[in-house]
Amino acid sequence: MRKVVLITGASSGVGLALCRRLLEEDDALHLCLACRNVSKAEAVRTSLLASHPAAEVSIVQVDVSSLPSVFQATKELKQRFQRLDYVYLNAGIMPNPQLNIKALFRGLFSRNVIHMFSTAEGLLTQNDKLTPDGLQEVFETNVFGHFILIQELESLLCHSESPSQLIWTSSRNAKKSNFSLEDVQHSKGQEPYSSSKYAIDLLSVALNRNFNQQGLYSSVVCPGTMLTSLTYGILPPFVWMLIMPIIWLLRFFANAFTLTPQNGTEALMDLDEDTAEKFYQKLLKLEKQIRVTIQETNNQN
Ligand SMILES: NC(=O)c1ccc[n+]([C@@H]2O[C@H](COP(=O)([O-])OP(=O)(O)OC[C@H]3O[C@@H](n4cnc5c(N)ncnc54)[C@H](OP(=O)(O)O)[C@@H]3O)[C@@H](O)[C@H]2O)c1
Repeated sequence: MRKVVLITGASSGVGLALCRRLLEEDDALHLCLACRNVSKAEAVRTSLLASHPAAEVSIVQVDVSSLPSVFQATKELKQRFQRLDYVYLNAGIMPNPQLNIKALFRGLFSRNVIHMFSTAEGLLTQNDKLTPDGLQEVFETNVFGHFILIQELESLLCHSESPSQLIWTSSRNAKKSNFSLEDVQHSKGQEPYSSSKYAIDLLSVALNRNFNQQGLYSSVVCPGTMLTSLTYGILPPFVWMLIMPIIWLLRFFANAFTLTPQNGTEALMDLDEDTAEKFYQKLLKLEKQIRVTIQETNNQN
């Protein structure tokens, strides 16, 4: 049985790079590209199959900022698959980002420069809007659409005999102070992206609490700062090129500046269950040895 991997936002950036990396590691996978733009997804599928003809690559159309689209996609997925082994909840937006130029210049000449560039803390605000579902667009795209996706796919994900993994693309921009339980959609604030990424971090913890026993595990990763359509929305490509020497310099001090989506995938692919289990067994063995040594020392004294 091929392992099935579902990836939202597989049409560009880190999602696309992830598809390539996954097939380089194992071309017997079945990748299901969950994208809103089918022609983009078709192009990705063609290029993946050209380099990995043994793979299976399918497409499901989903716009995670639209609940009817999510319901339709999950209905199709339940007809196509018995189970999903990995789900990368990666699609995300940061619409109309406004850069606080004053804060940028103040930060450039402060001791916080690395922190500022790697977290964008205090640098970015966004203009959010309502979707036809009546929800804040950033919240629905980055969090709620994905939440409904996994709720609807529960029967494909919860198999205690062979666990499924959810991997969320979070961000170092996630900040507790931007999230409020009184305004989970961040309709009153100006940093909906940061709030949505913090919400993802919280949700992952809650999913583990509620679903681990049923065989579903969730984790969050930050791919670092990469140049993708998302970051090109903050500054035009030529400005990124102008500040690139500074960013390269900072890269020596902080590995958060991954720069390319290819480097960004490193975090998403870093953890694997086998190594985790082997590591756990080694720790148990070491614990046993240490306990015996302590016992022997105590007996001698
Ligand atoms: N770039 C960074 O430095 C950075 C840092 C930390 C975290 N991240 C996170 O990484 C993830 C991927 O972003 P990226 O940097 O790779 O940017 P990207 O190139 O803009 O990729 C975003 C992906 O999400 C898809 N998407 C957006 N809205 C969607 C919707 N409503 N329904 C379905 N798909 C939708 C896009 O589809 P289309 O191709 O149709 O637009 C695209 O495939 C995001 O969650 C982002 O928050 C990025």
